[in-house]
Amino acid sequence: MLLIKTSAEIQKRVQTIRCSGDKIGFVPTMGALHTGHLSLIDQAKKENDFVIVSIFVNPTQFNNQLDFDNYPNKTKQDLDLLEEHGVDCVFLPIVQEMYNDDSVLSFDFGYLENIMEGAFRPGHFNGVATIVAKFFNIVNPHKAYFGQKDIQQVAVIKSLVAALSFQLEIIVVPTCRALTGLALSSRNQRLTAQEKKIATMLYQTLVSVRDGICSGDLFDNLKKKEIAFLEQNYGFRVEYLELVESSTLKNCEMKSGGEFAICVAAYLGDVRLIDNLVFVSE
Ligand code: PAF
Repeated sequence: MLLIKTSAEIQKRVQTIRCSGDKIGFVPTMGALHTGHLSLIDQAKKENDFVIVSIFVNPTQFNNQLDFDNYPNKTKQDLDLLEEHGVDCVFLPIVQEMYNDDSVLSFDFGYLENIMEGAFRPGHFNGVATIVAKFFNIVNPHKAYFGQKDIQQVAVIKSLVAALSFQLEIIVVPTCRALTGLALSSRNQRLTAQEKKIATMLYQTLVSVRDGICSGDLFDNLKKKEIAFLEQNYGFRVEYLELVESSTLKNCEMKSGGEFAICVAAYLGDVRLIDNLVFVSE
């Protein structure tokens, strides 16, 4: 497995691979890897000749300094895991490599900036778009892989790709869950064993809201009931619980059939968790 730390070196390598006609799959990560990342990598390996994984905890996407400071750092463990998993190349830049001047890029993703994650994490998507655009330019992959758990990030990145005409395909991989239903996330590593049990309630809430909607209950009623339940019985601090159209992420009413997503974000202690459930309603 190649370990590359500079953009110049990875660009040289990518050029050679592209000239040989091989396809490049790219999995951007912030490290602290778990089975969810490995499922992205497995899919990338199936669909490409050469797989590049980046590990970079991107400072510009953290709107909360404490969250950045506490983000788990497991580089040695991550590299062993990637090697075992047959990854061809890891791109491990330092901050100065990715942000080498004082310019600050600014994107506008319209309503996506003002709903759910956009509303609660101001500047977050600007930071994500900045780093992902830089990576796409440097790594120049044929396909890039993202998890469905970050459904709004996927929408933002698709919009970025369309706006900047990147010649690559975005592949969305279903959320990996523990047997309990808890969506896998690097942030779960900061939960205690007891909190991990409680955290499964988020997924159960999504299932219960979906079942309620499908049997004709009004979303607004379910939302009030479920938020109160999570906060009063389990100590969550819910930021949002929304029902949206899965393709646009716009709020919707369940009047007609289609594909929908129920999205939630909540704090458990000082750990912020997000999850979503996509479903089709007749
Ligand atoms: O989803 C993540 O881990 C990050 O937002 C990403 C896409 C690697 C950009 O830093």
